[in-house]
Formats: sequence, C-alpha cells, structure tokens
Amino acid sequence: MKIIVAVTGTSGVILAGRLLDSLKKHETFLVVSETARKVAEYEDVSIEAMERLANHVYAEGELDADIASSSNPVDAMVVIPCSMKTLSAIANGFSSNLITRSAENVLKTGRKLVVVPRDTPLSLAAINNMRKLRLAGALIVPPNMAYYFKPKKLDDVTNFFVGKVLDSLGLEHDLYRRWVVEDEP
Ligand SMILES: Cc1cc2nc3c(=O)[nH]c(=O)nc-3n(C[C@H](O)[C@H](O)[C@H](O)COP(=O)(O)O)c2cc1C
Repeated sequence: MKIIVAVTGTSGVILAGRLLDSLKKHETFLVVSETARKVAEYEDVSIEAMERLANHVYAEGELDADIASSSNPVDAMVVIPCSMKTLSAIANGFSSNLITRSAENVLKTGRKLVVVPRDTPLSLAAINNMRKLRLAGALIVPPNMAYYFKPKKLDDVTNFFVGKVLDSLGLEHDLYRRWVVEDEP
C-alpha cells in the first residue's frame, strides 16, 4: 500500500514513529508540520529517526510535491497525531499546506483517511469538525486508553493506540491483545 503519514503539533508525536515502524512493508510518504517538530523536542522524540523510517519525506510547505495532486493517488493517509487546528482545516477544506491538501485529495477520491485527534477536553468546534470528517468518510481514531489488556508500560499504551490505527487501515498486527472473555476475572 501507498500510505501518507502526516504528523502535526500535538502531544503524542511518538505515535507517528511507532506507526512508521509498523509500516515497513508499505511505501510511506511522511509530512511533519513545523509545530510537530517543536512538540517533538519537548517530548524527546527524534524526527530524524522518524524520517529514516519513511520512503519519502516532505516539508509541510511543499505544495508542489507529487502527493499534493490527486493525479498521484495513494491508498490511504493517516494524520497522527492530529491537532485541533489541522482537524478543522481538513474538515472545512482549508488546504493551505501539504498535510491538509493531501487529506483533501484522499477524501475527494474516496480513499481511506484515518485521523488521530489529540486533545482533552474537546471543544464544541472540534466535536463538530470530527462529525464533519466522519460524514465525509474519514475514520476518527482518538488515542483513547483501554485498561482491559492490563498495560504495564508506556510502550504497551503506544502500541495499543497504533494497533487501533492499523486496524482502521485493515492491516494485520500483533501490537495489542484483543478482547477475549476469560473464564475467571
Ligand atoms: C508542546 C505543545 C503541545 C501541544 N499539544 C496540543 C494538543 O495536544 N492538541 C492540540 O490540538 N494542539 C496542541 N498544541 C497546539 C498546536 O500545536 C497548534 O494549534 C498548532 O497551530 C498546530 O499546528 P499544526 O496542526 O500545523 O501542526 C500544542 C502545542 C505545543 C507547543
């Protein structure tokens, strides 16, 4: 599969690296926003290491890139993590950078868009934007925790969130333990 991975300026930039690591068998196109680079510094995440995992790397301002045109279709795009600003831009067709323009292409050509919005609490604007995107066909996959699989480390939590994204893309993985009813609690 050809998959665009877009990283925006919210907490949880580490999720994008883990996703790219899980997509090694696929052709990946990475776009990192300027604010995501700033957040990565605060969260001790290496954008350079992330870029080494991708097949193609773009700057957010590269509106003349191949993926800026729907004449070069990809199979899917994941915005991970997705800021409330980028969520709003995609939901409202405000395609001022390569991330929002690529997302517009993916939606208008009926390809799969997976959005991982990170904020809490959510504003009414964000809730409305998520609704708009869901109606447009995107899958909204917030990094919401579950406790049933008894995570021991932060890594388990990261894997759970990324596993949910891979589920949304329809890709096999063993990043988290699926729910099964046990005999005894
Ligand atoms: C350290 C840091 C953490 C942030 N965390 C969030 C967040 O969790 N969710 C969010 O929507 N915005 C967050 N922001 C604000 C966004 O970065 C800001 O709205 C920015 O304009 C998003 O731009 P982008 O979507 O182009 O990356 C954070 C900003 C900083 C500096």
